[in-house]
Amino acid sequence: MARVAVVTGANKGIGFAIVRRLCKDFDGDVILTARDADRGKAACKELESEGLRPRFHQLDLDDVASVSQLKLFLEKTYGGLDVLVNNAGIAYKSKSTAPESEQAEVTIRVNYFGTLNVCKALLPIINPHGRVVNLGSFVGKLSILQPHLQKKFASDSLTEDELTGLMNKFVQDVKDNRYGEEGWPVPFKGYGMSKLSITALTKVHARQMATCGKEDILVNSCCPGWVKTDMSSHSGPLSPDEGAETPVYCALLPPGSPTGEFFRKKAVAEW
Ligand SMILES: NC(=O)c1ccc[n+]([C@@H]2O[C@H](COP(=O)([O-])OP(=O)(O)OC[C@H]3O[C@@H](n4cnc5c(N)ncnc54)[C@H](OP(=O)(O)O)[C@@H]3O)[C@@H](O)[C@H]2O)c1
Repeated sequence: MARVAVVTGANKGIGFAIVRRLCKDFDGDVILTARDADRGKAACKELESEGLRPRFHQLDLDDVASVSQLKLFLEKTYGGLDVLVNNAGIAYKSKSTAPESEQAEVTIRVNYFGTLNVCKALLPIINPHGRVVNLGSFVGKLSILQPHLQKKFASDSLTEDELTGLMNKFVQDVKDNRYGEEGWPVPFKGYGMSKLSITALTKVHARQMATCGKEDILVNSCCPGWVKTDMSSHSGPLSPDEGAETPVYCALLPPGSPTGEFFRKKAVAEW
């Protein structure tokens, strides 16, 4: 069976550029996924006009039925999965007037719980030598937390359930307007917290995959840099193709490479 790579949220921005690059550099099929089928198919057409051959599958992180359908498709068509790039995400604009309670709930629901939905479904079908890459960010650093929370998030024994408990507590503390007292970032950083949770989840999953009995599975998070996309309102110095470089580097790491790390500029970096 052919090898296969899946990229989430790939109809535009960095995800689209990751698919473009994987179509050239990955030895297997590349599945461009998008929550909106029309936008996803249009993105595939654009890559086809460049002579590339991505495949399309619908995927909304926030919809467990959609995640299950992708899993079934992968099992039936490929018998598993070789590369998973968890790229999809959202961010409220800094000038948004939406209440912080809403911003926290929605951002953590999509960026943390949505990514977790995908991982819960797809990590069990990752093949030996598989690579999982999660898009974190330089704004999701541990230092945005007070020391007692830094210790919890960075703990080598943190479990998925404990991390989920921490993220639920963050959302509740924002709703109760006591996030500063509880050690969460001040001023409010819903997006930063969501990206911090992704790097913490990466470390949890790297430990799980290291003991799952399958050989050479690497799980890493990375920052693409500050990239001109809709999310950044087209600010930042990097093009989406440049932003795709570190995620693709992590997706194609050779055996013996690091796992459970945070990468920036194609190198392990401090989280
Ligand atoms: N741009 C930067 O400077 C920067 C820096 C650090 C990290 N990042 C991270 O890089 C990743 C890509 O960001 P970007 O800048 O390329 O953003 P973008 O242009 O806004 O693209 C985000 C993608 O995620 C998709 N998405 C959102 N919610 C989804 C859901 N529930 N299910 C499936 N797909 C969903 C969007 O689909 P729709 O088109 O349907 O909305 C879109 O395809 C994100 O994880 C972001 O946090 C970006």
